[in-house]
Amino acid sequence: MSVAIRKATMKDAKALHAMIMESTRSAMVLPRPLSKVYGHLRDFFVAEDGSGQIVGCCALSITWDNLAELRSLVVVPEARGADIGRKLVDACLEEATDLGIGTVFVLTNIEGFFAKCGFRETDKGILPQKVWADCINCPQFPDCDEIPMTIETKIDNNGEK
Ligand SMILES: CC(C)(COP(=O)(O)OP(=O)(O)OC[C@H]1O[C@@H](n2cnc3c(N)ncnc32)[C@H](O)[C@@H]1OP(=O)(O)O)[C@@H](O)C(=O)NCCC(=O)NCCS
Repeated sequence: MSVAIRKATMKDAKALHAMIMESTRSAMVLPRPLSKVYGHLRDFFVAEDGSGQIVGCCALSITWDNLAELRSLVVVPEARGADIGRKLVDACLEEATDLGIGTVFVLTNIEGFFAKCGFRETDKGILPQKVWADCINCPQFPDCDEIPMTIETKIDNNGEK
């Protein structure tokens, strides 16, 4: 399947919201109200197929100094296995580099996928406390089995490429 990866625009918001909410039924994706999708629309990349349908999304959310989180990664079931998830992750990592962000993390229960994207498991303790603020909204809280994983971008310790 050929898709274009691009930044989300206003016309994508409702489709993004529907896709995220649908995926919360079968995967460890946090529900996000439509108001948050609008509020964080600039964080999102979408994958658009040849007919203009949105078949995937992923958000890069800035968390702290030099740190951002990958959130709301979803590819619709019919489009899986065609490298779209990886392309969405790569687009977020490229944006992190462009923003001068050195580390990107994800909280996930599909380590295999993120390992293929270059992420490595990390110690929870190295992430700032702010990261855990959203956990209270998670249906799994407090019995969480998510694993923190990080990847370094092309940004060095001086914030340079
Ligand atoms: C996870 C998800 C985004 C992957 O999307 P996708 O487009 O099917 O993935 P890709 O085709 O880009 O896969 C890239 C590689 O990861 C592997 N992979 C895909 N899903 C995987 C999984 N769940 N576990 C382990 N490896 C996986 C693929 O086999 C492929 O490997 P290869 O390089 O050896 O060919 C998709 O399955 C999904 O939306 N899942 C439900 C939502 C979810 O769990 N989101 C993540 C929350 S943290």
